[in-house]
Amino acid sequence: MSIPVSAIILAAGLGTRMRSKMAKVLHRAGGAHLLEHVIGAARGVAPPDRITAVIGHQADRVRAAVENHGIQFAVQREQLGTGDAVSACRGLPQHAEGRVIVLYGDCPLLRPETIQGLLEHHIEEGCAATLITTHLDDPTGYGRIYRDGAGRVVRIVEEKACLPEEKPLKEINSGIYCFEAEALWPALAALRPNPASGEYYLTDIPEILAKTGLKTAAYTVDDPHEILGINTRVELAEVDRVLRARRTRELMLSGVTIEQPETVRIDAGVEVGMDTVIGPFVQLRGHTRVGEGCSIGACAIIENCGLEDGATVEAFCVMVDSRLAAGASVGPFARLRPGAFVDEQAQVGNFVELKKTHLGPGSKAMHLSYLGDSTIGRNVNIGAGTITCNYDGKGKHPTTIRDRAFVGSNSTLVAPVEIGEGSYIGAGSVITKPVPADALGIGRGQQFVKEDWAKHRREKG
Ligand code: UD1
Ligand code: CA
Repeated sequence: MSIPVSAIILAAGLGTRMRSKMAKVLHRAGGAHLLEHVIGAARGVAPPDRITAVIGHQADRVRAAVENHGIQFAVQREQLGTGDAVSACRGLPQHAEGRVIVLYGDCPLLRPETIQGLLEHHIEEGCAATLITTHLDDPTGYGRIYRDGAGRVVRIVEEKACLPEEKPLKEINSGIYCFEAEALWPALAALRPNPASGEYYLTDIPEILAKTGLKTAAYTVDDPHEILGINTRVELAEVDRVLRARRTRELMLSGVTIEQPETVRIDAGVEVGMDTVIGPFVQLRGHTRVGEGCSIGACAIIENCGLEDGATVEAFCVMVDSRLAAGASVGPFARLRPGAFVDEQAQVGNFVELKKTHLGPGSKAMHLSYLGDSTIGRNVNIGAGTITCNYDGKGKHPTTIRDRAFVGSNSTLVAPVEIGEGSYIGAGSVITKPVPADALGIGRGQQFVKEDWAKHRREKG
């Protein structure tokens, strides 16, 4: 049987340098909370029930924000240091045996492959602990690594404790570790507070292990970016850029065409199918799912929407909580508010707004319309400027338009109202009463024609 792996993510700190009232791990980059990215990376080596986030500052908010990932939580009441934070997981069955990976919640660029690499290196070296290190030209702020002649880590010296001759050491501690559980828990119990700060430092563990003859290995990575934590909002913006570039690259490699990918913003939770084409400046947000062979025009903003295969969104559309069936098309300049559903081969044109409205298969609303709280059948034509008056100042009312109805331009449908199957509505009508199937409904002022009226007016001068 293979040895189980679990992960502990430290996320109890506030992050003072963010200058925020919100806990650092709740800030967002790449369309997700920082902590969510770390959970995603941890998922590469451990199932959610073996991942524990240590929370403290704004524990309830942090828990609520990531609960849907199905992970476990441990509360660190007082922030007494990274060693104390890991100790908050003592006694939890998922970390009692096997290998325990320790990660930081503010380190969202870490890739699952790198954690896997750490784990493999740890197994090869056969040490009690292995930590990820890297070399930095400017190591300020980081713990410095001391190795012995055999390359083992003997000590980590924190910036504040560095003697002047230690400061130039360029190999730094990433804060990402793999421990043998049976070595970790006794070593943590032996941890003593740092005399200067009073905090319990996880970085004292290699020295404690060494006292009982246990060794610590280092897994050195060449690219430092991945392991750098976020401290300020400047770094947050930089990390956001990197995460989005990674996501667009991943999608392109999976068969999605992205024009000017550096301008496109695609959130972490978005999925896009093969042969879909995404134009410049498009934003795909939240849990949007885009099928295969879709086309999304420049500057469209799409949030929590579902697009089935072959759907088209033209430029400058804004869509939230809406759905496009296969072959449906919307825009340019359309707005789909929550609950809009454009069915198969249906078309929505420019300056059309839909809210809680089903536009049935093959139906069209091509110009300048508002359709709210409406159920529209198949092959219906909604003329330019049609408005459903769904709100009477007190409540919202439904409009039903049956199959093959033809609604003339500039019609005003005062809800609740029903337009029968195959019926016609004369252009410019105000419809307040139901129109039966196959009937013509017309409700507008009569037209007068006064012969020669204009000519007489001109002649009068
Ligand atoms: C830590 C390491 C340092 C390493 C650096 C890498 C220690 C003592 N130092 O320093 O060697 O180079 O990370 O980024 O470990 N946290 C808690 N509870 C606490 C304290 C911290 O959950 O009581 C969490 C923080 O929210 C954060 C992480 O642990 O996610 C790291 O803490 P931080 O204070 O940023 O450590 P550094 O000083 O950066
Ligand atoms: Ca830090």
